[in-house]
Amino acid sequence: MHRMEEINRRTWSNPLSRREYRSSTGFINEGERVVFEIARNRGAGARILDIGIGGGRTTGLFQPVAADYVGIDYTPEMVALAQRNYPSAQLENMDARDLSHFAKSSFDIVVFSYNGIDSVDADGRKAILGEVSRVLKAGGTFVFSTFNRNWHGFGEKRARSSIVWSNDPLKLGFRLVKHAVGLVRERRFAPLEQRDGEHAILLHRAHDFGIMVYATTPEQLRSQLGESGFDSDPMLFSVDGQLLRGETLPDEEYFHVVAYKPALS
Ligand SMILES: C[S@@+](CC[C@H](N)C(=O)[O-])C[C@H]1O[C@@H](n2cnc3c(N)ncnc32)[C@H](O)[C@@H]1O
Repeated sequence: MHRMEEINRRTWSNPLSRREYRSSTGFINEGERVVFEIARNRGAGARILDIGIGGGRTTGLFQPVAADYVGIDYTPEMVALAQRNYPSAQLENMDARDLSHFAKSSFDIVVFSYNGIDSVDADGRKAILGEVSRVLKAGGTFVFSTFNRNWHGFGEKRARSSIVWSNDPLKLGFRLVKHAVGLVRERRFAPLEQRDGEHAILLHRAHDFGIMVYATTPEQLRSQLGESGFDSDPMLFSVDGQLLRGETLPDEEYFHVVAYKPALS
């Protein structure tokens, strides 16, 4: 298992990282709104599995339209946070790599929002795609987003977050310390990057360089989906909601995906 597992798990359970998910609501961008609408229109009265719920942002978006909604996350602290935000929702502590708790073909829609699927290594990704395909009904929809391996911010000149100025010395001091922690982490984790395989494992600036992500290209994504029992021609959307065609992506950090499990003929 790649060391990203330990790095990412530590970040998700860190109270400072969790603060960012404490009360977020709505869509992260227009692309997400478009793909969520597509999923919701395909599945009125659907049984929905929402993976990697964090603080429950997507629980607020999907629970009201589902006939049956289950949200899961492998970070117990996130499940507790989401449950506080949505007391009536069915939320479970579960790893997407093992969905054996659910029967085959039991959901119409599966969601894994905000690049959560990229938190695991290549074996983990294969396991997640296989498990999602197993629990989806024939004709079901899998909606997720995933990092673009060719985004310039993953290149030689790595994208970094800048320090936001504050006149409050305490706030400013806190931001400076966080920034310094990020620089130390960048030095430690950058050598763990892998760029030369079928996939790439890359360091991301989020949470002060506290996250390593699996990044892909449309060609790789299509073949992975095909191998896992999905239609190998998913719909891809930019963050501003444009349908993307062909192999070339705009120079954006990530893209949204609507993948289908073929209907029974
Ligand atoms: C970037 S956060 C997104 C949170 C939320 N979906 C949102 O959009 O606000 C990713 C979430 O995915 C969860 N996660 C990552 N890998 C997971 C896995 N293998 N199984 C279940 N949850 C996972 C993390 O614990 C974290 O809460």
